[in-house]
Amino acid sequence: MTVPTVHVQNLTKRFGDFTAVENISFHISPGEILGLLGPNGAGKTTTIQMLLGLITPTSGSIRMFGLDLDAHRETILGQVNFSSTYISMPFSLTVEENLRVVAKLYGMSDVARRIDEVVKILEMEEFRTKVTRKLSSGQMTRLALAKAILTEPKVLFLDEPTASLDPDIAHKIRGALKEVRQSTGLSILYTSHNMREMEEMSDRIIFLQRGKLVAEGTAQEIVDKFGQQDLEEVFLKLARER
Ligand SMILES: Nc1ncnc2c1ncn2[C@@H]1O[C@H](COP(=O)(O)OP(=O)(O)O)[C@@H](O)[C@H]1O
Ligand SMILES: [Mg+2]
Repeated sequence: MTVPTVHVQNLTKRFGDFTAVENISFHISPGEILGLLGPNGAGKTTTIQMLLGLITPTSGSIRMFGLDLDAHRETILGQVNFSSTYISMPFSLTVEENLRVVAKLYGMSDVARRIDEVVKILEMEEFRTKVTRKLSSGQMTRLALAKAILTEPKVLFLDEPTASLDPDIAHKIRGALKEVRQSTGLSILYTSHNMREMEEMSDRIIFLQRGKLVAEGTAQEIVDKFGQQDLEEVFLKLARER
């Protein structure tokens, strides 16, 4: 059996006596796109922050590439990247300068070639020399994604990456991410509140509700399990059970 890219076992996070994530287990296979679905406050971002080593789990284990995150933090995190709608980057630098800083932090070589590549993939030619402060929110989102794929990670955690994009650009970005996955075997954990996007992107979906994993499977399997018409209906049903 191949080693899962990400393997989470019995992961729990408590803030004081509030349990944000409760005993969840899941894996992401090499080259797999796993959708992480759930209403606001379900624990999606908390989960991603634990996977990025930004907050410490209360209990449970996280393994990536067969290594324990606690014991092999540097090795693992060098092969991981992330993006979110709410990410912020130095505003006085241009788009290109920001990407160069990221490349430097990761100790990358052949930086100019790689920046050209990423600018092309995400269609950023027209604003690559623009100061970050002056970017539209859609451009900012693309910069955040560019930062994330620039370092050629083996696994990408994307927390609502397309939330501020218009449908046309969001569609293009999804296509670009799928192409990167196709050509590099990248694994992706993806959150979004757009159910069509979830269906389009995800090989498999896990559904969190109040910190608990309540469903897992393909979009169709989840829809069938809850006896609904589509993922949107499942979402509404679970969200309203709160
Ligand atoms: N640092 C924190 N301290 C206390 N509670 C937190 C903290 N971070 C998140 N929470 C709570 O944990 C729950 C899950 O939050 P979050 O993971 O951001 O949900 P989601 O991303 O699914 O909307 C929420 O109720 C949130 O208020
Ligand atoms: Mg969140």
